Amino acid sequence: MAQASLFWDRHAKGYAKRPVSDQATYEKKLKITQDYLRPDMEVLELGCGTGTTALIHAPFVKHIRAVDISEKMLEIARGKAESRDIENVTFERSSIEDLAAADATYDVVMTHSVLHLLKDKDAAVAKIHRLLKPGGVFVSSTACLGEMMSLWRLVLPIGHFLGLLPLVRFLTVDELVRDLTDAGFRIDHEWRPGKGKTLFAVAIKE
Ligand SMILES: C[S@@+](CC[C@H](N)C(=O)[O-])C[C@H]1O[C@@H](n2cnc3c(N)ncnc32)[C@H](O)[C@@H]1O
Repeated sequence: MAQASLFWDRHAKGYAKRPVSDQATYEKKLKITQDYLRPDMEVLELGCGTGTTALIHAPFVKHIRAVDISEKMLEIARGKAESRDIENVTFERSSIEDLAAADATYDVVMTHSVLHLLKDKDAAVAKIHRLLKPGGVFVSSTACLGEMMSLWRLVLPIGHFLGLLPLVRFLTVDELVRDLTDAGFRIDHEWRPGKGKTLFAVAIKE
């Protein structure tokens, strides 16, 4: 965990400067998400990074608790919230694994570009299911690098071993859909942008 937080601390400034890779896809994900948001909702974002998405959704909900393991990412996020006078997003340092929260607390949980970075994605999905209220909404966008048959399968583990890249899991879209369903979610919206190498899913806690 310490290794991951150091990695993201080191890359926070660069990450913040990097433009969204596909603006149209990003905006479509925001729009789909906002169709599920209501003004009285309590939202949890896990692995919020520099807060871009949380700050965009903030006007549509009551409160967003946005957590990340990287304090440097959070510093940037807090700065953006302050400069935009957004007061209903709380940025907090925590890993997903250690996050303290009571069961059935949240109306919505979001993870964007995070699940494929976790050692134990299934434990995270189970925890998200627990933290959601019955009927709660889990919005996730996840790179599914298992869809690629390429050199990356060699390069990414070596890059991680050398400390140059984060830990990356090679998930497939079908595996992720199955994992969500097995954890007790019903997939309400499924979209596979990026030539099918990303799963954007809105899943409901049954
Ligand atoms: C690829 S970035 C995505 C950031 C943001 N969600 C976005 O879409 O721009 C991954 C983020 O997840 C955070 N992260 C990685 N592992 C984590 C963990 N176990 N618990 C909490 N945050 C984690 C990193 O610090 C980083 O900010």
